[in-house]
Amino acid sequence: MENPLSTLDNLTPKEIVAELDKYIVGQKAAKKAVAIALRNRFRRQCLPREIADDIIPKNILMIGPTGVGKTEIARRLAKLTKSPFIKIEASKFTEVGYVGRDVESIIRDLIRIAIDQTKMDKMADNVEKARKNVEERLLNVLLPTAQKPSPVAVEENETAAVQESFSDTREKLRKLLREDKLSDRMVEIEVRASNFAPLEIFSSSGVEEIGITIGEMMPNIFGGMKTRKRRMSVAEAKEYLFNEEQNKLLDMDEIAKLAIQQTEQMGIVFLDEIDKIAGRESGSHGPMVSREGVQRDLLPIIEGTTVNTKHGMVKTDHILFIGAGAFHVAKPADLIPELQGRFPIRVELDSLSKEDFMRILVEPKNALTKQYQHLLGTEGLEIQFTQDAIEEIALMATRINTSNENIGARRLHTIMEKALEEISYDASNVGRGQVTIDSSYIRSRVESIAGDSDLSKYIL
Ligand SMILES: Nc1ncnc2c1ncn2[C@@H]1O[C@H](COP(=O)(O)OP(=O)(O)OP(=O)(O)O)[C@@H](O)[C@H]1O
Ligand SMILES: [Mg+2]
Repeated sequence: MENPLSTLDNLTPKEIVAELDKYIVGQKAAKKAVAIALRNRFRRQCLPREIADDIIPKNILMIGPTGVGKTEIARRLAKLTKSPFIKIEASKFTEVGYVGRDVESIIRDLIRIAIDQTKMDKMADNVEKARKNVEERLLNVLLPTAQKPSPVAVEENETAAVQESFSDTREKLRKLLREDKLSDRMVEIEVRASNFAPLEIFSSSGVEEIGITIGEMMPNIFGGMKTRKRRMSVAEAKEYLFNEEQNKLLDMDEIAKLAIQQTEQMGIVFLDEIDKIAGRESGSHGPMVSREGVQRDLLPIIEGTTVNTKHGMVKTDHILFIGAGAFHVAKPADLIPELQGRFPIRVELDSLSKEDFMRILVEPKNALTKQYQHLLGTEGLEIQFTQDAIEEIALMATRINTSNENIGARRLHTIMEKALEEISYDASNVGRGQVTIDSSYIRSRVESIAGDSDLSKYIL
């Protein structure tokens, strides 16, 4: 069997950490834990079935204050891996039977993600084939076979000659077609005439499962999709036929099978805000939402169960779960014991220091200072931050996080926004030029607010 893993997923733990390092400052322990977990799935794939079956994933619980990179790690992980990956807030769920999403929808969503991904992969594989089919179909239209004389009607040797000139012409047309020299020529193409607007049927439980479009059902009822002729340019036809050929080449049964296999073996569920469902009784949240109930519903999925989806049954035994939460109020010990046991790996994320903030401002590929430089660059304005400006911003963030609520690196966003408000506002008028932002500029823009703890509560 072909290895379903892509090259990106063949990264060693070290390489995964290095990749995460490009975006996330510090948090070594968390990065290491997820890197090992990811690699272990790859290792498991290399084992004989009977051993692999017994190796269950070691789920991870990431614990750390708000705004220190928990979700960011998940987000980057998702981009890094081609495994089916879903990030979902645990607080979105309610116990079965109540209004809200049931936990099984996590798996249904995951399958859908896997299906889309598998489809894209297949389509990428089929590009050449689809192009070839399109070319043949277009040639058939440009030079209909009806022009080809029937072999019985003419003399033997004459037939051969006509036949030859026919295929000569076809090859000449093919060349022109490939060189895009026929793009503007008009052709008549058979298009599918679907008169039925998709009609979604909704229901409160598992909308996605019942979302059958009438269009999907009709061909079976009326025996095939109707077609009609439409005039379009060759360029347009190329695109239209390409999509049609791509769809024809897709074997949806095969895709579903592959997607389910991918999900069962490599799927990752990131359960964010898991602390929000901790706590043993519904308490102040009222009787409608029982957090413990959600935990109990989650348990079988994490432990391993079979979920029925419209694409088939999905076993969840080997899906990796990564839970994350600030655990300010509730502690991991407030989760029901069975669930605690399902997250054997605990990693704590550190609160961020002034030095971390300074690095976060400039180092990541998508660092805030870079973002502003790019944004304002579009107006022809080149902005530079001096080292002491960076230090000033980091210092302010640390101070305000201490005096007000600690929101971690998110504080940098609010301060930067405030500091650059005037420049952002004026940039379109100022036009081209260079601006250097130093610590005194930052102070002048932000200090009056930062100094006033009441005011800063609202503005920063
Ligand atoms: N260690 C870090 N390195 C780089 N950027 C970070 C780091 N921590 C946080 N950030 C930035 O701060 C923002 C908020 O971080 P994130 O969403 O990861 O917080 P969180 O830990 O999930 O917090 P919460 O518990 O509130 O969900 C992110 O957009 C990210 O850009
Ligand atoms: Mg988060």
